Amino acid sequence: AKAREASSRAYAPYTGFRVGAALCFPDGRILVGCNVENASLGLSMCAERNVVGAMVALRLSNPLAIAVSGAPEGGPEVLCPPCGACRQVLMEFAPELIVVLGVGDDISIHRVTDLLPLSFSLRG
Ligand code: THU
Repeated sequence: AKAREASSRAYAPYTGFRVGAALCFPDGRILVGCNVENASLGLSMCAERNVVGAMVALRLSNPLAIAVSGAPEGGPEVLCPPCGACRQVLMEFAPELIVVLGVGDDISIHRVTDLLPLSFSLRG
């Protein structure tokens, strides 16, 4: 629900595709992010990476799960699995993370390690 709500605040004038992400922590805290696009299209930033940035800025760590919700312009919610770049960024901070994807009441739950097998790491 928090991811869905955040998607309504997306800044997506170029693609119309609105994404919200909600990152939850063991103490019940939930941070949200949304995608923020730019006229220089390559500068657009995904909801997931924006919420990870907020987490780092607040000096939080060890999130339990991230929920992601996306919808095309004027359309209903569609499945919105994190893009490859976001998977790598999620792995950097939370290799144990649970990824919750939803379309309406239909929820699927994944491990980030299953979504990005053999991820790149400098930690050995
Ligand atoms: N987007 C996200 O926010 N997260 C993803 O995991 C995939 C894509 C955004 C980027 C762009 O603003 C819009 O969705 C269409 O690609």
